[in-house]
Amino acid sequence: MRQVERMVRGEAMEEGAGVRIARLVGTSRLQMLDPFLMLDHFDSADAADYLAGFPDHPHRGFETVTYMIEGRMRHADNKGHAGVIETGGVQWMRAGRGIVHSEMPEQQEGRMRGFQLWVNLPARLKMTPPGYQEFPASRMGRETRAGGTEVIVIAGRTSGGTAGPVAAPHVDALYLDIVLQPGGRFEEPVPDTHSAMLVVYEGSVAIGDGDAIDAIAVAALGAGDRVAAVAGEAGARCLLIAGRPIGEPVAWGGPFVMNTRAEVMQAFADYQSGRF
Ligand code: FE2
Repeated sequence: MRQVERMVRGEAMEEGAGVRIARLVGTSRLQMLDPFLMLDHFDSADAADYLAGFPDHPHRGFETVTYMIEGRMRHADNKGHAGVIETGGVQWMRAGRGIVHSEMPEQQEGRMRGFQLWVNLPARLKMTPPGYQEFPASRMGRETRAGGTEVIVIAGRTSGGTAGPVAAPHVDALYLDIVLQPGGRFEEPVPDTHSAMLVVYEGSVAIGDGDAIDAIAVAALGAGDRVAAVAGEAGARCLLIAGRPIGEPVAWGGPFVMNTRAEVMQAFADYQSGRF
């Protein structure tokens, strides 16, 4: 059974043009969890916290995964791709060799909350063409388990055979959103070869033999081939995110994640000379 190796609370910061976020992965306290580079959580009912959005900015060398729990986000890129990610929808974007995009709230008021995860690409895929996997809430896999536990499957396949719409074979990703009733349980095999984290974002959850962890926090999980969680008295919602480590050197410069410093410098040069 996997136990909590490290529990980290989000670090408050501003991203984009001034959006208040909590960074769960990608800080000095939890630098990365190969193949996952970063995990940001945004959650506010105050439009001033999100209206500025994320105007045009580049990416190269990895994938960004936006999961909207609540609210609507408009996305547009320099290749002519545009759309709105609605409540419960996911956009799994491969930046590949380069994209310039904007991510702006499609709402002037109301609560907006969700997550953005950065998934690294192996060297052989860093310079592939950009691409998208976009799915609304209605396309997610759904499973109801004993005790009223609900599992929303975004990527991967559960032990119950429910598959998510996103394919991420380069890291064999599993991305689940789990809704637990008060005292509700969840258990799922996760290969020992994979990095795994549980993100508690509502209520509280005890993982493995550990004490209850209150939202919002990420628990990086240790070795083992199963994940087990039990919700506290108020129930809980959490994400289980797992993937096979890439195991390559990571050279990270702002919005570019490559294998070497020289490749990052090349990315800046290519972006500045309009080659994205
Ligand atoms: Fe972005």
